[in-house]
Amino acid sequence: MNGTDRAARIEALLAEMNLDEKIGQLNMVSADLSVSGPGRRALPLADISAGLVGSVLNWWGARDTREIQRRAVEETRLGIPLFFGFDVIHGQRTIFPIPLAEAGAFDTTLWERTARVAAQEAAEDGLHLTFAPMLDVARDPRWGRIAETPGEDAFLGAAFADAKVRAFQNGDLSRNGNLAATAKHFVAYGLVNAGREYAQVDVSERALRDVYLPPFRAAVEAGAAAIMPAFTDIAGLPMHAHRELLFSLVRERWGFEGVFISDYSGIAELVNHGVAADLVEAAALALKAGVDIDMMGFAYLKGLPGALERGLVSMAEIDVCVRRVLGLKFALGLFDDPYRACAGDVPDFATRALRRALARESGARSIVLLKNRHDILPHDAGHGTLAVVGPLADARHDMLGPWCALGDQDESFALLDGLYGRWPREWILHAPGATIDTTDETMIESACAAARGADCVILCLGESRSMSGEAGSRADPSLPAAQLALAKAVMALEKPVVAILFGGRPLILPDWLVEASDALIAAWFPGSEAGHALADILTGVCNPSARLAATWPMAAGQIPIWFGQRPTGRPADAKEMYSSKYIDAPVEPRFAFGEGLSYTNFLLGDPQPDRAVLQRGETMSISVCITNAGSRRGRQTLFLFTRDPVASLSRPLLELKGFRQIDLDAGETGTVTFELAADDLAFTGCDLSSVLEDGCIEIHIGFSARRTSLRSAAIELKTSTDATA
Ligand code: BGC
Repeated sequence: MNGTDRAARIEALLAEMNLDEKIGQLNMVSADLSVSGPGRRALPLADISAGLVGSVLNWWGARDTREIQRRAVEETRLGIPLFFGFDVIHGQRTIFPIPLAEAGAFDTTLWERTARVAAQEAAEDGLHLTFAPMLDVARDPRWGRIAETPGEDAFLGAAFADAKVRAFQNGDLSRNGNLAATAKHFVAYGLVNAGREYAQVDVSERALRDVYLPPFRAAVEAGAAAIMPAFTDIAGLPMHAHRELLFSLVRERWGFEGVFISDYSGIAELVNHGVAADLVEAAALALKAGVDIDMMGFAYLKGLPGALERGLVSMAEIDVCVRRVLGLKFALGLFDDPYRACAGDVPDFATRALRRALARESGARSIVLLKNRHDILPHDAGHGTLAVVGPLADARHDMLGPWCALGDQDESFALLDGLYGRWPREWILHAPGATIDTTDETMIESACAAARGADCVILCLGESRSMSGEAGSRADPSLPAAQLALAKAVMALEKPVVAILFGGRPLILPDWLVEASDALIAAWFPGSEAGHALADILTGVCNPSARLAATWPMAAGQIPIWFGQRPTGRPADAKEMYSSKYIDAPVEPRFAFGEGLSYTNFLLGDPQPDRAVLQRGETMSISVCITNAGSRRGRQTLFLFTRDPVASLSRPLLELKGFRQIDLDAGETGTVTFELAADDLAFTGCDLSSVLEDGCIEIHIGFSARRTSLRSAAIELKTSTDATA
């Protein structure tokens, strides 16, 4: 069907619809009426049959979606099909690492491959749309939802957005196996005050434009079908009522053609925010701002008729939203075949095996090696007995992380499962030694007994999956006290210790724990194949290559923390009292953005720009030589940062402008080439317009944002095209 035919069919349908049916199209209901997240307790079946529901969330399965779709198609007056949405955040049934971990693979192809599998599995479950990717830039580890984000950087977030949106949607939304994407949560949700969930947000116009908006812009450019406003406000104006950002910016200036889907009861919550007196006002505010679909707030259902009566909205404004929703349903192919995702396609054994293999590969590619004293790792069965202790060693349920859709803990592998396949069972001594988040210290002795009898201790510490994700804010994002007591007791035995940290956020670690660990690993929540992925890393079957997508603070008081801060008039100087530092904590983070070790090591040459002067409109190349100086094959990630040392505004000390990876055999040298366009150096100037300024630009290439790891060069940026200028 071409665009004109489609528009004509939409108009014809619209002409037949009464007000209730129109509002019904804007009403999305959940299968669980009480809370966010998966649940199957109830669906308002009578409303569906009456045409008062346009879409459904948290309802899945080919047979079950078919039955509900049948009601919409056969029992409603106009037979308009529903679409089904679900939070497929890092996998549907095969669960991949949480986004914060997967972002650290710094591999756009991997991000696409996992999104393709997630889309295929979701489509097999009767779903048409995912509420992903989550694109909130996050610099505050107290905020539990940092787990769902691609980390702290706008450039990284934009690259992640592009890969995920393209891969979920795969071009044609009406084709089997493709899933409409929802970029969320628009915008700056990651800035909730003091990391407290749903709290107020204040952000400068410049930070909004340079940091928080770019991942969403990338999602729109990649063709995202939907955008979800954040629960939060910006400077007092809740996002669900933010016409200037939703409508004027995204819809009008960016040309977004998809639908805005509210967050769960986000429209009704405008009353709690204190900007609407009742659901009528809330509905009017959201509709005027551009929110097309009301997810589980019933604000449109209950409020729009009154808003129309009071003259707060017009029928024409309601029609605009209905057209968009119908347009999405056409794009999804639902008017051609409302049951197109309900065929009950079941993947064959080989497909399932490939998906599991990808979960294992992506798991291993997301595990970050942070310390490896005297090359204690890799480690194989020849090294003797292992004591595998700590409450996360055997935590299949937690390995899936927050928002794990239909991931099944009975089909997930914890570290212990992974090790049992590699070590003779009798060489593994296991004792949890503590529970994850209770204060019970009575179990510690059993773990110490195991450790005493072993040659090496694998100490598995961290968070449960419910300690991060939505509503998982922590005022103190450190390890629970009983786990610290366990670590202290085990470390006092002076055995070699490999500490593995699980969790959904950068954790605050005590110095003694970092110092006493011989090896330290950030495993995050690696997904269904966690145990095998970790065993691959520990034994060296996979050489670690993941990096940190978010800075790990040394102390909670350093939060928010990220690499791209601006200089101050008084840069930190240990010898200078009146300089920008703390008197009770260091300024430097525990681990910087981009850090992560390999079992080999790499030497980097100096950046070689292909020109000394970069003119407006040009793109230049910058090459750098890299050698694998160790004794095994490995993958290295290189980051390209820039710095504008003198500008009309103080610019960040480092800005990420590119990342590349290279695989090198032992002893091999390769060249990595980055492209840098003059436009990449633009920023939001004093008058809030995008500016490009003449002058020196420093180029820094290295393995992380830690300044000591960077090799540098400089170029001149010339914005005038006049050769004599
Ligand atoms: C979350 C969204 C999610 C929605 C539906 C909300 O509580 O903020 O990210 O998509 O629930 O489950």
